[in-house]
Amino acid sequence: MVGPENGLLCGAMPGVLAAMVLRFPDDVPVLSDGGSLVLRTHRPEDLPAIVEQCVDPDMVRYTTIPRPYTERNAQEFLELAGSSWTQHTSTSRRIWAVTNETRFAGTIDYRPSGHGTAVVGFGLHPDHRGHGLMSRALSLVLDYAFGHDGQKLMTWRAIVGNWGSAKTAWHNGFRLEGRVRGLCVQPDGAFDGWIATLAREDPRTPCQPWPWPTGHQPYGIDRAEPEQSRPR
Ligand SMILES: CC(C)(COP(=O)(O)OP(=O)(O)OC[C@H]1O[C@@H](n2cnc3c(N)ncnc32)[C@H](O)[C@@H]1OP(=O)(O)O)[C@@H](O)C(=O)NCCC(=O)NCCS
Repeated sequence: MVGPENGLLCGAMPGVLAAMVLRFPDDVPVLSDGGSLVLRTHRPEDLPAIVEQCVDPDMVRYTTIPRPYTERNAQEFLELAGSSWTQHTSTSRRIWAVTNETRFAGTIDYRPSGHGTAVVGFGLHPDHRGHGLMSRALSLVLDYAFGHDGQKLMTWRAIVGNWGSAKTAWHNGFRLEGRVRGLCVQPDGAFDGWIATLAREDPRTPCQPWPWPTGHQPYGIDRAEPEQSRPR
C-alpha cells in the first residue's frame, strides 16, 4: 500500500489525474483490446524473457539498451518500471509489459514532457514479432495517453531503416515530420533518424500511402538511400 506521502501525484492533466494516488501494482492501468493482447506492469517472472529480448540483434541495433545486456540490467529495469508508477509524476515514464496469450512479449512506454507532449518507444521479443502485435499495443497506449493521461501530442522516432517500427507508427496515423541528421544517439554513435508525430485529434489511420510503388519506402523516402545511415 502506498500513501500520499509518497508523492504519487500525476499532474499531466489537472483535474484528471492530479492528486491521484497510485497503489502498486493494483492501480496501474491494465490495457486490453479484448483479444490475446494485454498490457500490464512488469513482473519478476518476466526477467528471463526481457534478457532474451534485449540481446536480440535488432534490439541492439535500433534501441539504446545497455550492451552487453545482463540479468542485472533486467533487474534494474524491473525496478525502474515499478518506480515509474510508484513515484508517479507528470514526467515519469508510463511503462507496460506487452503480453500475448499471457506470455511476456515486450515493452512499450512513453515519456511525458510534462507539457502535454510525450515520446513513445517500444520493442518486442523476437518470438512475438511479425504479427502486427505492436501496432495493437501502440493503439491501446495512445488511447490511454490521449484519454486518461491527457497528453496532446505523441512523438515517435527511429533510426533510418527501421521499417518495422516505421510501419507500426504509420498504421496508427503518425505523420512524418522529417529525417534528422544524428537524431538517434546510441551507445555506438549518433545515427540519422526519422521523426513523426500524432496529435490527439488526428485520425488513427495512415495519413500517407504505403507501400510506395518502389517498395517498402514509407513517407516518400528515396529508395536510393542506404537502408541505415552511418554513425556520425
Ligand atoms: C519494431 C517492432 C516492435 C515491430 O514489431 P511487430 O509488431 O512484430 O511488427 P511486424 O513485424 O508485425 O511489422 C509491422 C509491419 O511492418 C512491416 N515490416 C516489418 N519489417 C519490415 C521491413 N524490414 N521492411 C518493410 N516492412 C517491414 C511488416 O510487414 C508489417 O506490415 P503489415 O502490418 O502491413 O503487415 C519489432 O520489429 C521490434 O521489436 N524490433 C526491434 C526493436 C525496435 O526496433 N524497436 C523500435 C525502436 S524505434
